[in-house]
Amino acid sequence: MSKIIGKPLDRVDGKLKVTGEAPYTADVPIENLAYGVIFQSAIAKGKVLQIETSTAATAPGVIDIITYQQTPNLVKIPFFPTPENLPTAQDDNIYYNGQHLGIVIAETLEQAEYAASLVKISYEAAEPTITIAQAEIFEPESIFFGIMPGKITRGDMASGKTQAEVLVEEIYTTPMEHHNPLEPAATLAMWTGDNLTLYETTQGISATQRGIAAVLNIPQEKVRVISQYLGGGFGCKALLRSHTILAAIAARQVQRPVKVVLTRSQMYTSCGYRSPTQQHLTLGATQDGKLTFINHIGTSLTSIFDDFVEPVGAPTTMMYACANLQVKYRLARINTITPTFMRAPGEAPGMFALESAMDELAAALNIDPIELRLRNHADIDPHTQLPWSSKSLKQCYQQGAELFGWSLRNPVPRSMRDGDFLIGWGMASATFPSNSGKASVKVEMLANGEARVKTGTQDLGTGTYTVMTQVAAEALGLSSQQVQFELGDSNLPNAPITGNSITVGSVSPAVHQAASAAKQRMMQMAVADPNSPIYGFPVADITVESGKIFSQQDPSKQDSYSEILRRHGLASLEVTEETSPNPESQKYSKHSFGAIFIEVAIDELLGQIKIRRCVGVYSVGKILNCKTARSQVIGGITWGIGMALMEKTVIDPHQGRIVGANLSDYLIPVHTDIPNIEVQFIAEHDPHVNTLGTKSLGELPIVGVAAAIANAVYHATGKRIRDLPITPDKLI
Ligand code: MOS
Repeated sequence: MSKIIGKPLDRVDGKLKVTGEAPYTADVPIENLAYGVIFQSAIAKGKVLQIETSTAATAPGVIDIITYQQTPNLVKIPFFPTPENLPTAQDDNIYYNGQHLGIVIAETLEQAEYAASLVKISYEAAEPTITIAQAEIFEPESIFFGIMPGKITRGDMASGKTQAEVLVEEIYTTPMEHHNPLEPAATLAMWTGDNLTLYETTQGISATQRGIAAVLNIPQEKVRVISQYLGGGFGCKALLRSHTILAAIAARQVQRPVKVVLTRSQMYTSCGYRSPTQQHLTLGATQDGKLTFINHIGTSLTSIFDDFVEPVGAPTTMMYACANLQVKYRLARINTITPTFMRAPGEAPGMFALESAMDELAAALNIDPIELRLRNHADIDPHTQLPWSSKSLKQCYQQGAELFGWSLRNPVPRSMRDGDFLIGWGMASATFPSNSGKASVKVEMLANGEARVKTGTQDLGTGTYTVMTQVAAEALGLSSQQVQFELGDSNLPNAPITGNSITVGSVSPAVHQAASAAKQRMMQMAVADPNSPIYGFPVADITVESGKIFSQQDPSKQDSYSEILRRHGLASLEVTEETSPNPESQKYSKHSFGAIFIEVAIDELLGQIKIRRCVGVYSVGKILNCKTARSQVIGGITWGIGMALMEKTVIDPHQGRIVGANLSDYLIPVHTDIPNIEVQFIAEHDPHVNTLGTKSLGELPIVGVAAAIANAVYHATGKRIRDLPITPDKLI
């Protein structure tokens, strides 16, 4: 029985954070720091004629100004981990509004900002392409760095169409969205000789280390990347970005540490965005609700210089049992920075379309939306034909329906009221792939009997420190207070990028294995040592609890980690273990699932939508900490509510400038927008995904929320809104 794993342990870094002591990147105290401010293109397409820096150079405190003309030749590196184009300008071509053109370095931030305002740039402007409507559309051969084809088919679409007795064919659209982590991107770059240290807001310290080394053409061993606390990432801190490269170049040039913190406004132009999507989705079904074909064609934006597809059809291929399917991507090349991953890339907008369409089909056939989904439940992965490693989606529907009171729903639109408010109940499914990577972990047993556990993973604020402490403590037989978990330094053993919801599934098996191995080593040393009270006992008989080591046969015989080390004359003992995804797990399709139920109340005259109730039930394998897991879900559902009702980046179609690049014009939910969110997890044992049986969690709960809300809005009003966000103007 788990004693620590799964328990609602408070965040081990919680106190540091609330007291302001946790050193976030921009807070790391460095002596002799200079400040860098980046200046950017004010046009979206054309050429730079001149960058006039002479006035700025004489402004107070200015140390240096580096324009793209003075940056050293940078090396192009493949898309992952950084865009194929040089992430920072190397010539006079302008590809998007906000393109970084150089950096001012000054003694203080204010001096650097002032001087940057004096940099005068003249351009030869050309007419940019900004919207999907303005752009030429093409069909990419492959998507997501070539790992997925641009077109996916199965079965026989023609026969699926012949079998169809009813069709839902609609276009669903979602807007451009920005990540807006609370903590903006920041870099603190310092050189010691030819060694570069970066304090960096990154989801991937190793990827940043590799990326910056490649771009600057220096050996990877010369670069150290540190990222100990992050105020959110959500995908916008996943790739190496221009500001990081400029900070490194600037620090080398001025021979001083340089700090660059992007402004909130620069966060809209410098770290990617979620592409708007136009999704042409057709469902064909028989009268009894069996899907006969699905055709999902997604159009999204990409930059002039990169191909990035928002893979909206990824969940469509595996979600329902349907023999005939086509998923196809189309891209529109426009003058913006390349779009990027944003929480559940593909699944978040894709499932808005699919789960809205399923609701439309349910309404057309007069079948309950849950019943329709059950009739199309995929018992195996319909695309790969592999069995699921585990799947409890039916239990999610059932438990969610029970908690929500779904059976009381009158399916007729506009049939439920509360005073002036129309009431609507909607639901949707959620899914997200459960992947993992290789990770290496070092455990140090310390003289005081405690343990230090180290690996180069990241904590985006999700609770990595906490859950890994729990896993290590449990495996070592220590209390969570006796384990210190260290992460966020590329000098530590390697762990994968924190993205695609893979951290727990990748790192926790390695932590568990390394901690178990360390315990085993200590036990073996003890039972082989005539001076140990447990000498001669079989290792299998030895238990460790809260640091006490004893024989189960004779609990009076006790030893301790510190005594074992002391008797062996060791100040500490180190064990390093590496784990990789089990090849056996490739025989299974690995996904997390969930079901989301939402009640909306809509003021009929004003079109105002209030989310009243929300129930989310998820199956994500083993939960390492029920409190941080619940927090993840609340965060994800909150994002989903924002996506459904508020979020939308407005871009000027003439200048390609983002309008309202701040947190007052770009709306996200605040407390009053979010109701009580009831979260449940299905107890699920998955023996295939990894040794601990954990599945992906972080990105799953945003998925389906926008559809559940759109479905609830339809139920309340009889109006089907297929264009996000669902704002009052669309309802009146
Ligand atoms: Mo997440 S969008 O994979 O950082």
